[in-house]
Amino acid sequence: MGLHSRSAVSRKPNESMRLIVTTFVGIAFGFLIGVSFPTLSISKLNITSGLLFSSNDFEYEEKTGLPTQKALNVLSLKNSSSAHNATNTPKIWVPSNPRGAERLPPRIVSAESDFYLHRLWGNPDEDLTNKPKYLVTFTVGYDQRKNIDAAVKKFSDNFTIVLFHYDGRTTEWDEFEWSKKAIHISARRQTKWWYAKRFLHPDIVAPYDYIFIWDEDLGVEHFNAEEYIKLVKKHGLEISQPGLEPNSKLTWQMTKKRGDTEVHKKTEERPGWCSDPHLPPCAAFVEIMAPVFSRDAWRCVWHMMQNDLVHGWGLDFALRKCVEPAHEKIGVVDAQSVMHQSVPSLGNQGESQNGKAPWQVVRERCKKEWRMFQDRFARAEKAYYKSIGINNPSKSKLN
Ligand SMILES: *[C@@H]1O[C@H](CO)[C@@H](O)[C@H](O)[C@H]1NC(C)=O
Ligand SMILES: *[C@@H]1O[C@H](CO)[C@@H](O)[C@H](O)[C@H]1NC(C)=O
Ligand SMILES: *[C@@H]1O[C@H](CO)[C@@H](O)[C@H](O)[C@H]1NC(C)=O
Repeated sequence: MGLHSRSAVSRKPNESMRLIVTTFVGIAFGFLIGVSFPTLSISKLNITSGLLFSSNDFEYEEKTGLPTQKALNVLSLKNSSSAHNATNTPKIWVPSNPRGAERLPPRIVSAESDFYLHRLWGNPDEDLTNKPKYLVTFTVGYDQRKNIDAAVKKFSDNFTIVLFHYDGRTTEWDEFEWSKKAIHISARRQTKWWYAKRFLHPDIVAPYDYIFIWDEDLGVEHFNAEEYIKLVKKHGLEISQPGLEPNSKLTWQMTKKRGDTEVHKKTEERPGWCSDPHLPPCAAFVEIMAPVFSRDAWRCVWHMMQNDLVHGWGLDFALRKCVEPAHEKIGVVDAQSVMHQSVPSLGNQGESQNGKAPWQVVRERCKKEWRMFQDRFARAEKAYYKSIGINNPSKSKLN
């Protein structure tokens, strides 16, 4: 397994985490709920509004005449003849609502979101002129900006771009025009799986058909994202990656680009490496440097990711647990390939321990996480099968 070199552990746990996430979608949405929600009292609504708009902004009310007290009374859905006794109204409890939201009438529940940027004026339903159907994230340091600039240009307007910044440098990226429309999330010295677990919740990325979670050191000269998606759809790949070009740093046969096919789903490894031709690393396998997930596959993979195991080692061997049959739905796209440049970045940012170099301690942590992940998975599976009365299930181990 290649060293996914931009991984690191945080040096100072108390180092402040700076999140530069564009929040006005949430603000606008929260305000709308605030003004349209029927059973909140007027005083509560004023508090809500007060949190979202500074007191000066209440001029807004006077000018537009919208969320004034009078208007809010009109907005109240309650029939005035029964309003005098609240206990006459049956309580709302809808078990099929998302957990925790059972008290809400289902039609107001908005269980999923997106990264679409809204404007602060006009009609909300006219805000979005383009709703990208695909999402691509890069975990980046500013030093790799040229490479990322080249990569982003391979993704059309049909893609939402999210950058996870591990070096704290975000505004500098505005030298690129596309950066002004991208989502920037900054937390120092974290790995891409740390960000993915925290910022790519399946309910947040729900509108996107495919999600690319990519490293920053991929050469994209022979890659076109729209064409890639066409091939992934054509061949029914739920989890995929572009083939790695020959001059890449290669660890596995499976991810090596082939010249004669559009995609491949299985390979031959060195003798003795594959216990079963349908199992990793001979099939049902892609690496973690440039994976692409379908919406459904990501929903499962997100849940499989552990909060403390941040390097993602071993995750590639477990991806197959999320799709069925894995040896048909996981594959490598040969016709759209990338080069793995293996630029050491985060991988060098460990903290020297016991005379060991920074890259060594990061590598050791990667391997340790791999073992921990395998152990946890095996134990969890065993516990599950035991709970349903099966003691020795076959194929319970990860590899
Ligand atoms: C209010 O309730 C009364 C009696 O239940 C009903 O006759 C009336 O149509 C209701 N008004 C509205 C606006 O729903
Ligand atoms: C509201 O109605 C319930 C039952 O219909 C009654 O027990 C209660 O006393 C009423 N409360 C008020 C404040 O009128
Ligand atoms: C974006 O998606 C639409 C709809 O699938 C497609 O027609 C269009 O060609 C895509 N844009 C680019 C630049 O490929």
